[in-house]
Amino acid sequence: MKYVPFLIQLGVVAVAAPFALSRCNLADPKVVWSNEPLDPVQGKESAVTTSAPVVPRPVARSYATRVVVDLEIKEHVKALADGVTYAYWTFGDDAPGPFLRVREGDLVEVHLHNHPDNSLAHSINFQAATGPGGGGEASHVAPGHSAVFTWRALRPGLYLYNCMTAPAGLHIANGLFGQILVEPKQGLPEVDHEYQIVQSEFYTEGKFGETGPQRFSLEKALKEEPEYVVFNGRVGALLGDKALKAKVGDKIRVYLGNAGPNLVSSFHVIGEIFDAVYQEGGVVPNQRNVQTTAIPAGGSAIVEFTVEVPGEYAFVDHSMFRAFNKGTMGQLKVEGKDNQMIFSGRTAASLYTPGTRLAKVVDFGLPSKGEVGSGAQDGATIFATVCAACHQADGKGLPGAFPPLRRSDFLMDDKERSIRILLAGLKGEIRVNGASFNSEMPKPPLNDAQIAAVLSYVRTNLDNQGDAVTEQEVAAVREGWDGKSPLVADPAWLSGPKGR
Ligand code: HEC
Repeated sequence: MKYVPFLIQLGVVAVAAPFALSRCNLADPKVVWSNEPLDPVQGKESAVTTSAPVVPRPVARSYATRVVVDLEIKEHVKALADGVTYAYWTFGDDAPGPFLRVREGDLVEVHLHNHPDNSLAHSINFQAATGPGGGGEASHVAPGHSAVFTWRALRPGLYLYNCMTAPAGLHIANGLFGQILVEPKQGLPEVDHEYQIVQSEFYTEGKFGETGPQRFSLEKALKEEPEYVVFNGRVGALLGDKALKAKVGDKIRVYLGNAGPNLVSSFHVIGEIFDAVYQEGGVVPNQRNVQTTAIPAGGSAIVEFTVEVPGEYAFVDHSMFRAFNKGTMGQLKVEGKDNQMIFSGRTAASLYTPGTRLAKVVDFGLPSKGEVGSGAQDGATIFATVCAACHQADGKGLPGAFPPLRRSDFLMDDKERSIRILLAGLKGEIRVNGASFNSEMPKPPLNDAQIAAVLSYVRTNLDNQGDAVTEQEVAAVREGWDGKSPLVADPAWLSGPKGR
């Protein structure tokens, strides 16, 4: 009996083999279309499960094993929003159900239990499984019964599981869904945080926000007009103190599922760009620098992004009325050091009179070499839009944080050094006008002409009496120097001939 599933698997492979031979040249090299024998299964373990938005740690194993998954279906009343309750049907306690994480090649042994207090039959269909119904029929059980079936995780990727008992739309709409990640054998690249978010719809008789117990509306479900479209099962599941968290510089991976049952999601993080998208939940990152990714109903996507600037970021289904009127909104809170070079925040505000321009507030792009002269006007603009964020609009700096550029002895002492600071940034202890600073200036986003322009401006204005800097002088310093890491302050500057 124990060997039956194994024999069935072998049969599947034997039938697929001739087909595989004709296809393998066309296929992505990472996708296996072969008649290789299935991995031998060693040992047995219980699935590590987590509730959203947490996901289990990566699988550390280098071999296939039998992973035993125990899932209990509950029919129970839960909060859909503040003051709004709904009779949920869930795998485990919540919608989405537990996140499961297995390795490509694993045998997944599912034990599905239908709680005796439930009133209906249920089942589970794994979209990660290969076989009729994904297990939907094999697992169909009445209340007070359990069923067991096993499937082989042949294809790595991010998949949904859901109830397949008729009417499946109703079972999914009531909360019977969750995600499973089948990790590729070689694993996924390491990141600092992993989270899971599943979008789904609720079709209630009462309008959005109408308090009290809510019943399912078949009419709205047929029209595909949900009152609620939410992340992780309820309004506000990822807001306020439940927001996702990260630190500046962290790389984040989110496993996104869309349980539907009807709508397509347009997932977007306001103020971020996805470094990589594994479209439709495959394991090959196939798109870079993406603003919004589409997730079909019953589909998934994996997104990765790095947070560079601290603050609060909202993420939404970019079908905007869902986000603002139906609940499809979550939050990511990023802590860490500000980065004025990437995002300044508001640097100026004024009343606007048509026909006039906001003084000094101009678009600061990166014109190509030659486009910018070294006139004082360009230098003043660069100073106001880039340098003033830290060194302050009056150039006086902030004690203990940003050194002054106004009447700066350090600046005027060494022209070449000031060019190097603008080419690469600066860190370490320096003394400016007798006061010590020990911090870091990031490399500003300027080309040679712009560095010449801004240095000419600060050296001939802000109570400094110096000469201008030419683009040629900047180019000469850049020449023969990699300038990749910030200039490190030399202790000799504190006391040497150029020190004070
Ligand atoms: C993100 C904040 C920030 C921005 C923006 C910035 N700086 Fe700085 N700058 C610093 C800090 C901090 C130091 C001191 C670094 C240290 O302690 O080693 C510094 C040091 C300097 C110094 C040497 C010390 C002095 O006061 O003479 C010069 C010159 C300078 N910056 C010029 C500029 C210019 C010109 C710009 C605009 C193109 C600019 N900086 C933009 C933060 C900044």
